[in-house]
Amino acid sequence: MITVAGFNTAIDRLVSIDTLVPGEVRRAGQVQAYPGGKGLHVAQTIAALGEPVQLVGLTDAIHRNLIARRLSERGVLFHGVEIADELRSCIAVRERSGRVTEMLDPGPLVAAPARRHLLELLGRCADGSEAMVLSGSLPRGFADDTYAQLVRGIDQSALPCLVDASGAALRHAAEAGAFLLKPNRDEAAELAGHPVETVEDAVAVVRTLSARGIARPLVTLGALGAVGFDGDALWHASIAIDDSVNAVGSGDCFLAGVAVGLKRGDGLGEALRLGVACGAANAMQLETGYVRRADVDALRGQARLARLDG
Ligand SMILES: Nc1ncnc2c1ncn2[C@@H]1O[C@H](COP(=O)(O)OP(=O)(O)OP(=O)(O)O)[C@@H](O)[C@H]1O
Ligand SMILES: [Mg+2]
Repeated sequence: MITVAGFNTAIDRLVSIDTLVPGEVRRAGQVQAYPGGKGLHVAQTIAALGEPVQLVGLTDAIHRNLIARRLSERGVLFHGVEIADELRSCIAVRERSGRVTEMLDPGPLVAAPARRHLLELLGRCADGSEAMVLSGSLPRGFADDTYAQLVRGIDQSALPCLVDASGAALRHAAEAGAFLLKPNRDEAAELAGHPVETVEDAVAVVRTLSARGIARPLVTLGALGAVGFDGDALWHASIAIDDSVNAVGSGDCFLAGVAVGLKRGDGLGEALRLGVACGAANAMQLETGYVRRADVDALRGQARLARLDG
């Protein structure tokens, strides 16, 4: 079983309109609402790949049924902690041209009892799990070092923690010695203090993180793929696709693929191959943070995997 912590569950609303004109009234052709948040994306992608997965995360009274139904349909065991306030909502306005404008609300302030409940639930779920994924931003009320504290409380050789965070939460998780970190370009640049654009830049970051005690540092580079280091070999995996429709959430799907690969006993190179197939499969369709297994299976064979250090 893989356990995913998705502290900041969101309700994503996709509004499709012809053109957005600031200051003017527009009627939407279509509005879709679906549960989101990075942890939820990771969990539903792991389930799509056929691995048992449970998600621990926030829910609220209004969206309880929507979230429970979606996750059950997709084969994710959900442990929800209901909060009094409404979950955060992310509104994406998609114009006919394909341009997307996003509006993200600050989300709820989570009170101490709900915070304790969520962390206790996660602790119980950790028992008997083979990997733990800590993914996404922390809602207001949680300390920046929440992921770091979780990592320090877990023997990383017995239950590896895979962390996808940004800013202070990422920095703390790096200091705490998480088993795996997955910054994207911008997050890696912030962590390293220098720009990260190329494969060579990413190699420098994973080597530095490895020297600081991260067992499996990875950096994702969008269409350029991903770089990873296992302390011995340095890998670069990528897939060229010509029809990227919506790459938002590709990092979440990538991490799900890597988690599944490692859980199945693959080496880092093979796990990266599955990761980039999931990232590319997400980019090829409109829905954010989900893949079809058939697309992943087809793309996996097209992935280029290179060992960089000979
Ligand atoms: N246009 C693309 N073509 C092919 N593969 C892609 C493309 N975009 C993303 N990917 C794959 O998905 C992986 C993750 O993408 P990216 O680096 O954009 O993650 P991210 O910025 O963390 O995304 P998010 O946080 O929105 O989930 C990449 O390493 C790559 O393998
Ligand atoms: Mg990301």
